[in-house]
Amino acid sequence: MQPGYDRLAVQYEDAFPEPFRTPLERHAVAAFAERVRESGLPGPVVDAGCGTGHVTAELAAAGVPVLGVDPSEAMLGIARDSHPQLRFVQGTADPTTWQDALGEAEAPSAVLARFSLIHLAPDRVPGVVRSWAQLLPVGGVVLVAFQAVDGGRAVVSFDHAVAPAWRWHPDVMADHLHRAGFTERWRAVSRPDAEHRFPECHLLAVKETAEAPPVPVGRGCSVDGC
Ligand SMILES: C[S@@+](CC[C@H](N)C(=O)[O-])C[C@H]1O[C@@H](n2cnc3c(N)ncnc32)[C@H](O)[C@@H]1O
Repeated sequence: MQPGYDRLAVQYEDAFPEPFRTPLERHAVAAFAERVRESGLPGPVVDAGCGTGHVTAELAAAGVPVLGVDPSEAMLGIARDSHPQLRFVQGTADPTTWQDALGEAEAPSAVLARFSLIHLAPDRVPGVVRSWAQLLPVGGVVLVAFQAVDGGRAVVSFDHAVAPAWRWHPDVMADHLHRAGFTERWRAVSRPDAEHRFPECHLLAVKETAEAPPVPVGRGCSVDGC
């Protein structure tokens, strides 16, 4: 369960009935799907924190097998009603919660985490992205999207309408992914506007080798607390 999203799932669906709010969001997911297809990996994409499943359905329509995962039964209920042809299971960003659904024969090829890592306590994020790196094969892809911090701070909580949430400095999120074993390939950061209070970052990274790369002493972002 996820108390905030369980309580407000219907209002969430009314507010966000479409998969994307901006062309950038759509293009980021399309570029991710293309990268997954190009990888040639057979496993499904795990949409971690899939919510109402509309982006999960976009991925399926783009030709990649997909499993939607979310802790909120109410969000999953809407996802299943809206997209009965797709697979949705209850779980979190932590792969131990989806391994039963996938089984040993179905190693995932990629993870999509759009605006879901924001709901993890910040000290849990490095471990979660490390577990993705351990699970994905070489060539595996991740796309993370999150409300971002502009200034000198690494991560700050914000007053999300539904659940406790944290905004991240893009360099800090990128650094956690790098330390886990992913190589950043691109990021796009949108600026705040009338409908978006904060910058939003879409960051794609790939597991290029079996080993996590060594992190040179002194490497990392210049952000306090990184
Ligand atoms: C803002 S919605 C985004 C939904 C969807 N990814 C999208 O892009 O439309 C955030 C979702 O993250 C889910 N969530 C909350 N805590 C989570 C966790 N620990 N792991 C994975 N998802 C989580 C919520 O239940 C909710 O459905």
